[in-house]
Amino acid sequence: MRLAGKTVVLTGAAGILGQAITRRFAAEGANMVLVDRDAGRLAGLAAALPAEAVLSVTADVASAGDMTRVAEAAEARFGAIHVFLANAGIEGMAATMADYPDDLFDAVIAVNLRGVYIGIKAVLPRMADGGSVILTSSIMGMMGTPFNVAYTASKHAVVGIRRSCAIIAGPRGIRVNTIHPGFVDSEMLDRLIAQHADPAASRRGMEHKALLGRLTLPEDVAAAALFLASDESRAVTNHGLVVDCGTLN
Ligand SMILES: NC(=O)c1ccc[n+]([C@@H]2O[C@H](COP(=O)([O-])OP(=O)(O)OC[C@H]3O[C@@H](n4cnc5c(N)ncnc54)[C@H](O)[C@@H]3O)[C@@H](O)[C@H]2O)c1
Repeated sequence: MRLAGKTVVLTGAAGILGQAITRRFAAEGANMVLVDRDAGRLAGLAAALPAEAVLSVTADVASAGDMTRVAEAAEARFGAIHVFLANAGIEGMAATMADYPDDLFDAVIAVNLRGVYIGIKAVLPRMADGGSVILTSSIMGMMGTPFNVAYTASKHAVVGIRRSCAIIAGPRGIRVNTIHPGFVDSEMLDRLIAQHADPAASRRGMEHKALLGRLTLPEDVAAAALFLASDESRAVTNHGLVVDCGTLN
């Protein structure tokens, strides 16, 4: 098992990608600290795992107090943290700048950027040397769009955090990498394309844009996260791993 004896703190655990990552990592022997603000979905996910290998904490990733509580609870339950996967995120909306509410811009930045920053600040001091930090960015952290500037800016900013934290954590042997999922077959994508004039055509367009002719699956992202969490990626740091079926080309 590739994560036996490792403790993983995962934010956004109750979401579609979080659930796929949880299932994959738990099957590889990890102790999972599941973090989300959705207590109900979190409880359902935790109930499906062996009780001795799971801790769930309801928390807001943008709150320093909450994330300190998460890190302390993880350490108290399992000891040092080996993997921190900052995955919680919100999508904002598919709108041009003229139509984009300023308070929604603030909300997207609070979760997708401040949440990642606050999480690393709380968890990194409690991580074992030689650990792995993984940040969920997006292909929108590598390209522009006229329709969701807040989300695009937040996902680019995550790359800035990666570059800086890879320098900070490198001397402790801690690797810091980003994952850049493409269009994932998920509730988040459904919510976004529901705002398009012809959602079915948008979905087909996304499939056709990918060189592999399909949407990315949550399990594809979980497999990439497993590589970055495991010792198999021990020489990989400050890297952006694109998992998009060839959408960026
Ligand atoms: N779904 C996609 O197509 C796609 C593509 C690229 C990147 N991503 C990124 O992947 C990550 C996971 O996306 P997903 O598809 O699983 O979305 P999702 O909406 O299914 O899950 C996101 C989870 O984050 C939680 N969350 C949101 N704000 C939070 C906060 N302040 N504190 C704690 N938890 C919070 C939500 O409750 C939810 O469970 C996000 O960062 C997203 O931007 C998704």
